[in-house]
Amino acid sequence: MTNLRKLFSISNLPTLDKELILCHILKIERVDLYKKSDIEIQDKTNKAFTDLIKKREEGFPLAYITGIKPFWDDEFQVNESTLIPRPESELLVETAISFDLENCSLLELGTGSGAIGMSIAKEKPFWTCTLTDKSFEALSVARENMKALNLKNSVLIQHDWHKRWLFEPMDLIISNPPYIYRNDLDGDEDGIWFEPPSALFSEKKGLADISTIIKNSVIFLKENGKLLLEHGFDQKDSINKMANQNDYSDVSFLKDLNGKWRVACLTK
Ligand SMILES: C[S@@+](CC[C@H](N)C(=O)[O-])C[C@H]1O[C@@H](n2cnc3c(N)ncnc32)[C@H](O)[C@@H]1O
Repeated sequence: MTNLRKLFSISNLPTLDKELILCHILKIERVDLYKKSDIEIQDKTNKAFTDLIKKREEGFPLAYITGIKPFWDDEFQVNESTLIPRPESELLVETAISFDLENCSLLELGTGSGAIGMSIAKEKPFWTCTLTDKSFEALSVARENMKALNLKNSVLIQHDWHKRWLFEPMDLIISNPPYIYRNDLDGDEDGIWFEPPSALFSEKKGLADISTIIKNSVIFLKENGKLLLEHGFDQKDSINKMANQNDYSDVSFLKDLNGKWRVACLTK
């Protein structure tokens, strides 16, 4: 048996990581942890904690250990078949819900855990949201999140954007597609190597998937419909060019909280 202070002294990881890992093992909320600080930690807990701390020290993401990632207003289940939703993707949510549309048909391409599309669906209960991904494993995580949020205005569909598209014309298409060019990484990025490569990496300098989405979306958007795309900070000019080549009438770009170009808004 040990106590909390001794348990936490085994690692130099940030205290928050240690707290969240222990709460995950004890199945308690973080606010309740220090109410229990005088309790003795059982050997079984000690062993589970030591094992998970070791994994975390090897770079395994905290969200995959706890199975939870906070995003927008909620916590989303994640696992190794889904990307861990990033705070910068909240810009897609913020932008989508700023459109003053009563009844909107929304299509999300590459929903992963569902964090982006479901946050929008929850904010806009009168919108009809079709959330798609090619990965069945990711879709089963998304299904759990949809159940937990009790969303009545969303459906999940398996779809690969490199194959046939069969959708009704949409008011809004959104996507955070894979846009990282693998050769640009130097290997030090925290945790990224534990995430599904198909959620992260794209050929042609990271633009292959974006290019397919831009080309096909214009066909499946209503007149004046919009495509909102998350992208890499250095992909703005290429996206601008693709938008012009594909007959969009207007293109604008938004910066994230770090001042980096992050979201393209293409209007048909
Ligand atoms: C960057 S992740 C985004 C996940 C989620 N929207 C988020 O932001 O957390 C890209 C997603 O696109 C999916 N994806 C990759 N290639 C795809 C394709 N060809 N067709 C459909 N989905 C694809 C991946 O499975 C992954 O879930």
